[in-house]
Amino acid sequence: MMLSAKDIRAKYLEYFEAKGHKIVPSAPLVIKNDPTLMFINAGMNPFKDIFLGNSEIKNPRIADTQKCLRVSGKHNDLDEVGYDTYHHTLFEMLGNWSFGDYFKEEAIEWAWDLLTNVFALSKDRLYVTVFEGDQKDGTAFDQEAYDFWKKWIPEDRIINGNKKDNFWEMGEVGPCGPCSEIHIDLRSDKERKEVDGKGLVNEDHPQVIEIWNLVFMQFNRKANGSLVDLPNKHVDTGMGFERLVRAIQNKTSNYDTDVFIPILNKIEEISGFKYGKEEKIDIAMRVIADHCRAIAFTIADGQLPSNNGAGYVIRRILRRAVRYGYTYLNLNEAFIYQLVEVLDQEMGAFFPELKQQRTLVEKVIKEEETTFLRTLSKGIQLLDEALAKAKEKTLDGKEAFVLYDTFGFPIDLTQLIAQEKGFEVDMEGFQKYLKIQKDTARNATAISTEDWIEILPAQETEFVGYDSLTSESKILSYRKTIQKKKEIYQIVLDKTPFYAEGGGQVGDKGMLVSDEEELPIFDTKKENNLWIHFTNKAPKNPQATFKAVVHDSKRQATACNHTATHLLHLALREVLGSHVEQKGSLVNADYLRFDFSHFSKVTEDELEQIEAKVNEMILQSLPLQEDRTATLLEAKARGAMALFGEKYGDTVRTIQFGDSIELCGGIHVKNSADIMLFKIKLETSVAAGVRRIEAISQTTAIAFLNKEKSLLDELRQSLKNPKDLLKAVVSQQTELSALRKEVEGLKKEKAQQLEQSINASVIEKDGYKFLAEVVDLDPASIKSMAFSLERKNAPFCGLFASKQGNKPSLTIVISKDLAAEKDWNAGTMVRTLGKHIQGGGGGQAHFATAGGKNPNGIEDALKAFIEIVE
Ligand code: SER
Repeated sequence: MMLSAKDIRAKYLEYFEAKGHKIVPSAPLVIKNDPTLMFINAGMNPFKDIFLGNSEIKNPRIADTQKCLRVSGKHNDLDEVGYDTYHHTLFEMLGNWSFGDYFKEEAIEWAWDLLTNVFALSKDRLYVTVFEGDQKDGTAFDQEAYDFWKKWIPEDRIINGNKKDNFWEMGEVGPCGPCSEIHIDLRSDKERKEVDGKGLVNEDHPQVIEIWNLVFMQFNRKANGSLVDLPNKHVDTGMGFERLVRAIQNKTSNYDTDVFIPILNKIEEISGFKYGKEEKIDIAMRVIADHCRAIAFTIADGQLPSNNGAGYVIRRILRRAVRYGYTYLNLNEAFIYQLVEVLDQEMGAFFPELKQQRTLVEKVIKEEETTFLRTLSKGIQLLDEALAKAKEKTLDGKEAFVLYDTFGFPIDLTQLIAQEKGFEVDMEGFQKYLKIQKDTARNATAISTEDWIEILPAQETEFVGYDSLTSESKILSYRKTIQKKKEIYQIVLDKTPFYAEGGGQVGDKGMLVSDEEELPIFDTKKENNLWIHFTNKAPKNPQATFKAVVHDSKRQATACNHTATHLLHLALREVLGSHVEQKGSLVNADYLRFDFSHFSKVTEDELEQIEAKVNEMILQSLPLQEDRTATLLEAKARGAMALFGEKYGDTVRTIQFGDSIELCGGIHVKNSADIMLFKIKLETSVAAGVRRIEAISQTTAIAFLNKEKSLLDELRQSLKNPKDLLKAVVSQQTELSALRKEVEGLKKEKAQQLEQSINASVIEKDGYKFLAEVVDLDPASIKSMAFSLERKNAPFCGLFASKQGNKPSLTIVISKDLAAEKDWNAGTMVRTLGKHIQGGGGGQAHFATAGGKNPNGIEDALKAFIEIVE
């Protein structure tokens, strides 16, 4: 019987578990502590700190299946996805790792054993590659790997590969090393006889594909391009799960396996089209089947679509899928969200983050789809208008860019629609504008980073900040970076009281002080487990001993807001229900912001209850109960909630105040009473199904209430201290609107009277009536009077001049028939007359107005008007 995708995943993990590997869950897709990477793009990313020697090796052998996303940066497959049958945005990478433990021999032997014995892939379809060396890098041919492979596979199936294919690097800098890839030839026997598969390896042949990459990590690529040895040698293997399934299930496309068939079936059902009949339709279906996985899992891992960073990448992928559905499958209503159910059925058991958050994921996707479909139809309308104006059947590059930039209208869609209507798009012009935009963005964020200068041997920074605000510290290493032309120095200490940004809480600020110098620290962040302190000054004597001092009052205010966040989380679950889950948070010295899943607006009444519950817990003086040594399982058993999108170590820290218990690495008050007061300031929506609360605590909350109080006092005084302020304001408002009504009535009356008296000045001309008068009224009243007089006296021609508010204006009205008969144009006239009042204006042939700056010119304008008419 054919192995299913689920069986294959399980067998892979079982195999390596039996070889002493610890099986770990996939890390969340969105990376939080590495400025060089947005999403996990390889199974090894979550272990980068171990490769770099920044973290201790706790488990020398690990295996997993890791969700990866290759849609930005060095590894970007987005454009191929859908067009071929073996690249994906999101894919699972099966991996086994040795951290300073086994090396090439075992990695090669086990890979071969698993593929050919456990999965019974036929040996004569497999090829392997080894690194041929690179002169510029000074790296040698990988003889070792070659010799180990020779034991298992005939030498004529071992192929030398160059640096591009056989030297693996995660990014511009970081851990890297030579690699050996395993390729499989999935063509028919007949084709294999006709053309030897060896020549097709690494030639982009859709049936001769790489399935597994064994990387032998031994170098670190520095910022200056050089390679240095890593402290230990490691193995990093990565096998494309979807490709492996295809090889084992003997299919010609990844999409013909049970990983994708259920999704494609659902797309067929929704769209009414059949897969496998027409290439254009197939591509669209593959794009959608692929992209829905990327979108669903990224949202489940805590990244909502947005207008920048990782959120924007997701938004673009989703829009790509919507667009293919819209253009090729005639799907003009939201539909991708319906695929989440299928994903859940197929993958939810193994990836609980999806199962547990399915409703939220569906809601978010549906709203994104709906919004984008609206943009699409607006864009199509704008495009039609632009095409109507276009000259010589070419759409201007700038127009195309505006559509793309302002309305998110994809350029290939613009091209497609233009083509259908017989137009071309000026792509050169478009690219020019795109480049200007990209260059501007790049310059705004350009960072140049120098290599670390080591002062002392590397070690993990000891964090003492839970217990103390100061420490005696030594600099381990520092480096210079330049950002927006400003020099910034990053410092790593052996010991620090500075909290590094994490779990929503901002990094500490403070000072490093030695006998010779003071370095102000303006932020603290973690990067691949390096604890980095940011300052604008280069240390003069980095060898000195420094006193590290955290800014005390900011830290205390931040701690109050952090503990208040935990209490708020509990109160939300108690008042709104246990569906509430944290979706994001920000905690700093000024306020706290908490995003959570909830499907309707939180009512005023609920907000009051929530606030009251938090204040009750503050009043109860709940002491901090902290445990830094529990295992994740123990903590969960005690009721601590783990967050989706967070990566947890083997031991975790739990923070408890009464019934509130959370996994948290942040800084908290010693007793809930320290918070003094909690006040909600705002409740809004962030996305479909995600609400946001902003709140303040302690002295900020007290100051806020005092300010509100003095505002009320002032208000009361200005109303002459009424007994009931609200009643007084309401009665003033009632009185005001009654007065307004009265004034309106009087104004109308006055205007009517004025109109009557002005009407008396109308004079008879040759076949029409004429008026040129100064009428000091507001523009709206003048307009209505002008039309009323025109109706009474038609055919009529009149000029109404006003100096009201020292703002001169001219209004000309001419009966339509009269204007046509005499060939008069009020617009042209008003522009000529406008010069007298130093102004300009315009309008239609029968009605036009002008405003100006010189009220003294009114008389001349009146005279000039009479002259024109006569
Ligand atoms: N890091 C290697 C890759 O991504 C092997 O895991 O291909």
